[in-house]
Amino acid sequence: MNVLLIGSGGREHALAWKLAQSPRLDTLFAAPGNPGIANHAELVPLKVEDHGAVVDFCRARAVELVVVGPEAPLVAGLADDLRAAGIAVFGPSKAAAQLEGSKGFTKDLCARADIPTAGYARVDNIEAARAALTPFGLPVVIKADGLAAGKGVTIAMTPDEAEAALTALFAEPGGEAVIEEFLSGEEASLFVLTDGDAIMAFGSAQDHKRVGDGDTGPNTGGMGAYSPAPVLTAALEQRAIDEIIRPTVAALAAEGTPYSGVLYAGLMLTNTGPKLIEYNCRFGDPECQVLMARLDSDLLDTLLAVARGQLADAAAPAFSDKTALTVVMAARGYPGTPETGGAIDGIDRAEATGATVFQAGTRMDGDRLVSSGGRVLAVTATGDSVTQAQSAAYAALDRVEFPTGFCRRDIGWREVERERA
Ligand code: AMP
Ligand code: GLY
Repeated sequence: MNVLLIGSGGREHALAWKLAQSPRLDTLFAAPGNPGIANHAELVPLKVEDHGAVVDFCRARAVELVVVGPEAPLVAGLADDLRAAGIAVFGPSKAAAQLEGSKGFTKDLCARADIPTAGYARVDNIEAARAALTPFGLPVVIKADGLAAGKGVTIAMTPDEAEAALTALFAEPGGEAVIEEFLSGEEASLFVLTDGDAIMAFGSAQDHKRVGDGDTGPNTGGMGAYSPAPVLTAALEQRAIDEIIRPTVAALAAEGTPYSGVLYAGLMLTNTGPKLIEYNCRFGDPECQVLMARLDSDLLDTLLAVARGQLADAAAPAFSDKTALTVVMAARGYPGTPETGGAIDGIDRAEATGATVFQAGTRMDGDRLVSSGGRVLAVTATGDSVTQAQSAAYAALDRVEFPTGFCRRDIGWREVERERA
């Protein structure tokens, strides 16, 4: 079977690496891809925003499944246009992708379906926003409504910080925001596949969003992750599926916009149980890298079952009991403006340790691999514990030469501390 993968990041490299292991795969195409993905796929210079061009390509090259990595094409309705053309696609419709595309949409759905989440108010002007702040006290959470690539959330500790966040949000006309109760607890990510009806748990992970060691500095797209997340025990995972995931899938189906794809639930494990922080309509990056490193069964079979609405009949995924841990190497300047063009060497030497180096922001400059974005590599290893996976990942990472890059040295610290205790 021919498959087209949409995207160009570390998440898509991990998906390509795993799809390429499927005995059912004939040719994997990737648009636009990156040099790491090119090891597993034929890169095609498609304009992904041009849905007609994507449909034409699939027809011309007998593509039977399209796997959409990032959220933006889903929110733009790429899955709808492919389905309308009779092409199976892994990823939700535009309407269902509103779970990620609009925080207010998700909060309203939680309210309708009685899903545990932080209390909230939706506002579309600064006066209403100021008035809505009071009942929440401090800290208070202020979020831009739409896609913001991880940059749209402020946790305001003081009234001045709240005012500054609102001023920035409503600087342009048409701003929309959600104001939320601050939740405390530990965060964990739960991944669930659904075809709109059947639900299949697909692993857990913990991300490290801050740029600096000890969880300091600005938020990023994620500097490292590990899977599984032991804090999300089997009992808590079941509770999250019963109280959060199942009612979400049922509500969207009942409203005529069934969700098909992966649901990525960001959870806060509070002392009254798991609460939804946010939904994403795609795999996490770098969480996908650690999920794929643990997946022993055939990814293509599973994604195809989701895309064809046959998940109820599909075999459950098989994940290794080992822990996978990934460390992101980013370019200096990230999450601000990253330095691009920095030379990267030593990926082979890193992989000789048994680790896998997924590429994100890379490009070829002649025959040299150089950096081309903020997050550049995700060095991924497995072990019998988080501590062992962490040592293996850093041992591999230390063989990579990327002088204009940096990484956190403490990925997995929460669990390493617990394992030491
Ligand atoms: P989001 O983009 O919604 O995932 O938010 C980014 C980060 O902000 C989350 O990973 C949390 O660390 C934090 N956050 C978001 N909402 C809340 C909340 N209601 N209470 C506490 N922390 C939050
Ligand atoms: N690592 C967080 C995300 O993919 O949204």
